[in-house]
Amino acid sequence: MAEIRSFGRTSSGEAVSEITLRNGAAEARILDWGCTLRSLTVPDRAGRPTDVVLGYDTAEEYEKNDGYLGAAIGRFANRIARGRFTLGGHEYILAVNDGANHLHGGARGFDKYVWSVESAGKDFVAFTRLSPDGEEGYPGALSVRVSYSLGAENALTIRYEAEADVDTVVNLTNHSYFNLNGGGDAMGHELTVGSDTLLGIDETSIPTCAISLDDAPNFDFRSPHTLAERISADDTQLKNGSGYDHCYMLSGAETAAELYSPQSGILMRCETDMPALQLYTANFVSPRPGKGGARYSPRQAVCLETEFAPDSPNRPEFGSPVLKKGEKYDRFTRYAFFTK
Ligand code: GAL
Repeated sequence: MAEIRSFGRTSSGEAVSEITLRNGAAEARILDWGCTLRSLTVPDRAGRPTDVVLGYDTAEEYEKNDGYLGAAIGRFANRIARGRFTLGGHEYILAVNDGANHLHGGARGFDKYVWSVESAGKDFVAFTRLSPDGEEGYPGALSVRVSYSLGAENALTIRYEAEADVDTVVNLTNHSYFNLNGGGDAMGHELTVGSDTLLGIDETSIPTCAISLDDAPNFDFRSPHTLAERISADDTQLKNGSGYDHCYMLSGAETAAELYSPQSGILMRCETDMPALQLYTANFVSPRPGKGGARYSPRQAVCLETEFAPDSPNRPEFGSPVLKKGEKYDRFTRYAFFTK
């Protein structure tokens, strides 16, 4: 039986619901507002239930949320330079909402809608949404399904499915802010990323060129390092991102990244079939209250956003995010939790 409760209303009066998934010692709470992962509770080393994602207690706070906490991001996650791209010989002009660039789907991305609950069970929920032709400037109507399931290894699997009625670009991710201690500073977390290649960025966070990690030692997480270790280094790339806010091209191994907190003993493994991963150390979180009386400020969490590369509609050399009419977009990301 699905566990669904009311989570209040949006400012326009739309009802928001929260669905709770349970499996063994793990519990996930997900809103139909933006398919938002509001909490994810797993045991720490001592068996204590630990909520490992940031979130809010009210629909009102989610509506005002400018950090995309826990939300599904679409139609295109990350940035598209100047909000423009050409497809099939036509230039499309998108909403611009991050300086001169398009970010996370535009002024009203997928994170800012109440989705339909298609089906829900004890450990599973699927949401659907029809993004109309021309939404935020994108070509074609896109039918989207985002589903969450909680399975073995305390793993939360997110599956993204989509189909369009004309050729378009699609890049769907989840924007959870992970803190494996359940709160406080997260820069003591140790990170490993299965990548040899970083995308360098300019001052507006648009990718410039691929950089070998041999030439970017402050970004090299091929073996585990804490985030704190090199985040304050005198490095143009770290300045451009105000910390880590960069995309790694994944090498294709099943495990994209691992995040471990020596304090709680929680290890999170991130698996995906997406080609890239945005590492974001919550640099732009403005100080504010969070759920359960928490106070959030920058660097209290780590986002590992699996995706196509930023600006890839204009940079096919980073891998094409084009979804052709009649093709099916079907991608997954799995966050599994262990202790050590
Ligand atoms: C991240 C992005 C950051 C920032 C953040 C939202 O995905 O990389 O630059 O825009 O979302 O505050």
